[in-house]
Amino acid sequence: MIGQDLLGIEDLQRDQIELILETAETMQEIASRDVKKVPTLRGRTVVNLFFEPSTRTQTSFEIAGKRLAADVVNFSISSSSLSKSESLLDTAKTLDAMDPDVVIVRHRVAGVPRKIADILDAPVINAGDGAHEHPSQALLDMLTVYQEKGRIEGLSVAIVGDIAHSRVARSNIYGFTKLGAEVRIAGPPTLIPPGIEQLGVKSYVSLREALDGVDVVMALRIQNERLTGAFIPSVREYSAIYGIDRATLRFAKPDAIVMHPGPVNRGVELSHELTDDRPSVILDQVRNGVALRMALLYLIAGRTSSPGQESGS
Ligand code: CP
Repeated sequence: MIGQDLLGIEDLQRDQIELILETAETMQEIASRDVKKVPTLRGRTVVNLFFEPSTRTQTSFEIAGKRLAADVVNFSISSSSLSKSESLLDTAKTLDAMDPDVVIVRHRVAGVPRKIADILDAPVINAGDGAHEHPSQALLDMLTVYQEKGRIEGLSVAIVGDIAHSRVARSNIYGFTKLGAEVRIAGPPTLIPPGIEQLGVKSYVSLREALDGVDVVMALRIQNERLTGAFIPSVREYSAIYGIDRATLRFAKPDAIVMHPGPVNRGVELSHELTDDRPSVILDQVRNGVALRMALLYLIAGRTSSPGQESGS
């Protein structure tokens, strides 16, 4: 994958997903060391180009780069020449002229990372574009499920909520189906995109039917910033019908886990209790995000030596 863009899970083959997950598992050991740093990407430059707010993705790409000893630059939109009307593509070309080794892009408009990748020499990793894809989130979700369940093939995964505006849902649908899981989606009909079944998922309006016997329940955030129309009567009604709590979780398997990509609207799509406690694995997802993004940086911007053979620095 050296030098390749990662724009979506749709573009990945099953063996590439498996390689990324296996590499992430080798990276996890580094987090347990006293000195959490290896020289694998020393001399490499990682640019974080986030045009939309982010806590988890931007921070974990930054920590991931630093743990691999890369130089990490967080591009600040507000203090850049974008505020002097420089275009997005001119900004990207300008950064590319400084020879980064990988550029991480988040933008509210679907397709912008691909547009930037078309004009940059450096490989581009999509850190979330509109309602299109968020590949690194789906990969860390797959890693979390694999480590909880010991497999992904044959599992049932229910994704609940605002599917229409969710890049996380789309990337997870591609990823989990490629790895042989059954994926169900559930939510109000206004938040289920028409034709979604063509991606190989079953669509449910009834939460009870969607959760029946599943291994994994993934709740999604109600994305107020992308809800431009009247998609739900009220947040309270949405929560009453589609909110996940201990009572609704009883429809799933007794050992089902609960996931959420964050940030959580506590008490809306997920109860306070399930946000904080098992079987919720939300903080494991965050923790795995660092190792997963180390794996991506290593595979895309790295050299050929094994991370396990590097000495600490
Ligand atoms: N899950 C996720 O993308 O979170 P951030 O917006 O905080 O990066």
